[in-house]
Amino acid sequence: MGRSMAQLELRNVTKRYENGFEAVSNFNLDIQDKEFIIFVGPSGCGKSTTLRMIAGLEEASEGEIWIDDRLVNYVEPKDRDLSMVFQNYALYPNMTVYDNIAFSLQVRRLPKKEIDNRVREVARILEIENLLDRRPKDLSGGQKQRVAIGNAIIRRPKALLMDEPLSNLDAKLRGQMRVELAKLHERLDTTFIYVTHDQTEAMTLGTRIVVMKDGRIQQADTPKMLYEHPVNRFVAGFIGSPAMNFLEGVVCCEEKKLWLRCGARMDFELTWCSVYSVLTDYIAKTVTAGIRPEDIYLEEEYRKMGQEEQKGLKAVKVTVTARELLGAENILYFQAGENDLIAKVGPECAYRSGEEITLYFDTKRMHFFDAGIGMNVERCELG
Ligand SMILES: Nc1ncnc2c1ncn2[C@@H]1O[C@H](COP(=O)(O)OP(=O)(O)OP(=O)(O)O)[C@@H](O)[C@H]1O
Ligand SMILES: [Mg+2]
Repeated sequence: MGRSMAQLELRNVTKRYENGFEAVSNFNLDIQDKEFIIFVGPSGCGKSTTLRMIAGLEEASEGEIWIDDRLVNYVEPKDRDLSMVFQNYALYPNMTVYDNIAFSLQVRRLPKKEIDNRVREVARILEIENLLDRRPKDLSGGQKQRVAIGNAIIRRPKALLMDEPLSNLDAKLRGQMRVELAKLHERLDTTFIYVTHDQTEAMTLGTRIVVMKDGRIQQADTPKMLYEHPVNRFVAGFIGSPAMNFLEGVVCCEEKKLWLRCGARMDFELTWCSVYSVLTDYIAKTVTAGIRPEDIYLEEEYRKMGQEEQKGLKAVKVTVTARELLGAENILYFQAGENDLIAKVGPECAYRSGEEITLYFDTKRMHFFDAGIGMNVERCELG
């Protein structure tokens, strides 16, 4: 495909709708050429609004939107060199797949030969060459979605904007299309900006993920950074499935060691924590500890580990409340003291509701958040 640079910059972009509601507040983001940027966040957090402002379908109330050194706030959508794919792929029912893809070039009166070359190239990339003569009603959901994408990319836009393009597809097809989109991004050399509230899509597709809440960016980072260093409790709970467990506790210093005391049955020695030195500022304070379900192990799993791996793992007596077998893994629901928690463990686990067992919590992988504002203690400056 032909390619052109696409760098996008959003500077202090705010959207206030006519009723006064501020849907997006002071949004700042630099998007580099060829990035696969994901906007993710709960319903109503302003993802579509932001995407629509980039596309020019909504006007920004404040701030600047730049595409490749051009201020585009007052540039018409069609002149922004962007393409958008929506959840409800709008195909022309009476036109063949070929014409649905070719349409935007036909109205621009490009030479027939050039249009034909480009339709076939796009069809090859999307693997729909054998469908070109069909009409939309004779296509599956995933095939329709590909045609809609074909229609969007044939113009060789600087960036492809997608608003939950897979949310109408069933789970299996979504999985397939997710892989297809990743391949497409590699082949196209185009910037992708993609809205979803599916965090699997976000984590697997995004080169960078922008986590939003209430119209504000919480964190814009690589999937790995979001997973390992969430800036606050909201991001920590939003990224990862099942979600991170949270426990309140008080940081204490005894026997020259730091401990987290989370009620009667749970004391965690913090010696192996990566943020140990920061936690010394929290002595006698309450913090929220976060531990991901995948960082809690069965006794059998613990026994199989080497000595080095076992370091920092803390035994906790718990009561199993439920278990769900999800193919290759088990989701174990349990109670530890006052807390209802979740562990992701191996498929061989057969514990039943009511059983008392010992689980091992990996304190090396615990996260800690300020109990008030929810900021990760890594980022907190205690004043
Ligand atoms: N035309 C409008 N007038 C007033 N408020 C609006 C308008 N359009 C959207 N909103 C509000 O702005 C907020 C952000 O909406 P937006 O569609 O951007 O959310 P979203 O993150 O895309 O949500 P979803 O995941 O449900 O699609 C919501 O609270 C919504 O109700
Ligand atoms: Mg939306």
